[in-house]
Amino acid sequence: MSGRIDAVLGMQWGDEGKGRIVDWYARDYDVVARFGGGDNAGHRIEVGETKLALRLVPSAALHPTVELFVGSGCVVNLEGALDELARLAEVGVDTSRVKFSDRAHIVLPDHGVLDRASENARGAGRIGTTGRGIGPAYADRVSRLGITLGETLDEREFRSRLRAIRAAHERAMQDPSILPDFAEMEERLLALALRLRSAIVDGVAYVHTRLAAGKRILAEGAQGTLLDISFGSYPFVTSSQCTAGGICTGLGVGPSAIGRVIGILKAYTTRVGEGPFPSELRDAAGDRLREAGREFGTVTGRPRRCGWFDAVAARYAASLNGAHAVALTKLDVLSGLDRVGIVTGYHRGESVASLVEAGRSDFDVEIEYLDGWAEDISAVRRPDDLPAAARRYISRLESLVGLPIELFSVGPERDSLIRA
Ligand code: GDP
Ligand code: IMO
Ligand code: MG
Repeated sequence: MSGRIDAVLGMQWGDEGKGRIVDWYARDYDVVARFGGGDNAGHRIEVGETKLALRLVPSAALHPTVELFVGSGCVVNLEGALDELARLAEVGVDTSRVKFSDRAHIVLPDHGVLDRASENARGAGRIGTTGRGIGPAYADRVSRLGITLGETLDEREFRSRLRAIRAAHERAMQDPSILPDFAEMEERLLALALRLRSAIVDGVAYVHTRLAAGKRILAEGAQGTLLDISFGSYPFVTSSQCTAGGICTGLGVGPSAIGRVIGILKAYTTRVGEGPFPSELRDAAGDRLREAGREFGTVTGRPRRCGWFDAVAARYAASLNGAHAVALTKLDVLSGLDRVGIVTGYHRGESVASLVEAGRSDFDVEIEYLDGWAEDISAVRRPDDLPAAARRYISRLESLVGLPIELFSVGPERDSLIRA
């Protein structure tokens, strides 16, 4: 018998509501696995009184029997991971179910310092990173300087790798004195690694023994397709692969292991940080979406930039991921608008433009407006009970994106969902 890996991925610039949607799909799976990113992610889940903001731990933490896996493509801040486990234990989560791949890389305190220094040096051209050292940790991994979680298990090896990576950071920096004290950092990291030891597993065997036993694995995306290092709005992206291809490289499986791919789209668009955002509303309409959708970063608290749904970007994301269907979130936030916009095209003069060109000034968007609806829809649980205008909006999105929407969310709580 062989199991299968399905996936739930963000198809915009992150914060589509992956946490709550993964929490919903997770009831049908044995394992939920993160395959990339680090604690730059912030995934909110609300179940009754329990409200979680997960950073690294997969969003099935509130399903007591589901195994939780932080895969080989992830980067792990030891202190952050241990704090997150402790916080989960406080709310009664059995954290012995959380395992980390030995091939995941660690994010060092140096990486946070390098991330922030690089942002300062970029000045007006900054990316607007979360400042959590994610980019420098992935850069060290690609430079073959990084340290894997598995390497923290051998004290001598760990010490020597730390010395080598610090020497490289010192060589690369104009002012190495801003790096944390080495001896203190070394002892602290050794102590943290010891505490995480029992949760570190052979990341390849973990996945393959479960697949061989016929278990169902759900891959949980972090960030979003348009933040993907290869296909996003480069250079205003994160440093990992957020698209479906990242599941193979991040969990160590072939494409034949991948089954259904669900893409999550918010009913409008948001983005934190800098970079092109063709459908952005820099006026009162954007402020209204931010207030109604409570669009403030889960990790950094920054106000999110807000705009209309971008059908061009969504179609691009759907094709990059080979998505089978869509889960649409935050439909309730659009209630009360006279009209709802959808971006249906980008132009530069007479010619059709691409997302990559979207940062330039001579760039226009085509917007289609649909009638809005006044009713509060947060208590609706059946598609037929939605106002006609909301149903028309949904079916227009389906035809523009070219995929069926199989699930809508109309509030942040676990059961605020409508199945198509
Ligand atoms: P993620 O990073 O993709 O998991 O998304 P975040 O958790 O960072 O941001 C999504 C935010 O929207 C969270 O605060 C959720 O509680 C909230 N949310 C999710 N779905 C809905 C919804 O359908 N309606 C409303 N009003 N809020 C939602
Ligand atoms: P979740 O999983 C939204 C953005 C940052 C910045 C860029 C690079 O909650 O959707 P980084 O710190 O990764 O080097 O920052 O990527 N970013 C996110 N935006 N949601 C996220 O995660 C993000 N993770 C990174 O704002 O623009
Ligand atoms: Mg988030």
